[in-house]
Amino acid sequence: MSPDIGLIVGSGLAALGLDVVGTETVQTSFGEPSSPLLSVAIADKRLECIARHGVERWIAPHAVNYRANVRALHEAGVGRVIAINLVGAISPDFTPGSIAIPDQLIDYTAGRESSFGEGQDIETRHVDFTLPFDPILSGAIAAAAADCGYSIRRGVYGVVQGPRLETAAEIDRLERDGCTMVGMTAMPEAVLARELGIDYAVLAVAVNYAAGRSPGGVPIHAEIEQALADGMLRVAEVLKRLLASS
Ligand code: HPA
Repeated sequence: MSPDIGLIVGSGLAALGLDVVGTETVQTSFGEPSSPLLSVAIADKRLECIARHGVERWIAPHAVNYRANVRALHEAGVGRVIAINLVGAISPDFTPGSIAIPDQLIDYTAGRESSFGEGQDIETRHVDFTLPFDPILSGAIAAAAADCGYSIRRGVYGVVQGPRLETAAEIDRLERDGCTMVGMTAMPEAVLARELGIDYAVLAVAVNYAAGRSPGGVPIHAEIEQALADGMLRVAEVLKRLLASS
């Protein structure tokens, strides 16, 4: 049986090694999603998956059609989304290659289409976003990670506009704001999912120390490939464990 869980996978798609068993090109009233709906097999289950940055071309974080992506999964019957996002590590106990589940976010993005804008009532016009990530789904992912032997960091995801990386001063500011990790794609994805009543959680993979945070002053890009490979192995294991019990 297919669970109602869907995936939105970012730049680590290839490293995640998903077993794609079908594809369906779809359109939505908000345009074309970044990729066809990819039907992936994990632990005897089939899930619908969107490749956030596309499959054959790379769509930059600020240019992703987040509305079409979230809408396409909703129309496919997905009620819970696990988003796999690459992030830079800000807090010192978070190191490249490790995984985290944010429980809060701060949105620093600008100019992205961040609402379906069809709300007829006060709840859908002004969605309650006190808790941007679904605590139950986040908890289930954390439990699966613990079963796999991974210690999971929680924390605050600062969502920046990109596509450039930050200055060291910007990272200092994010840290003062309380951010423990920085990435480019959790918003507006999280709020769009909330508008459609989809439970949404992020499983984040740290692929670099954020700007100015590398202990030995190692250039940001030097370690990304290895951290991505290590982190995605962990993500694949966690998803398998989670889906085996879903
Ligand atoms: N900053 C912003 N987004 C990112 C980073 C970063 O350092 N690493 C991966 N995504």
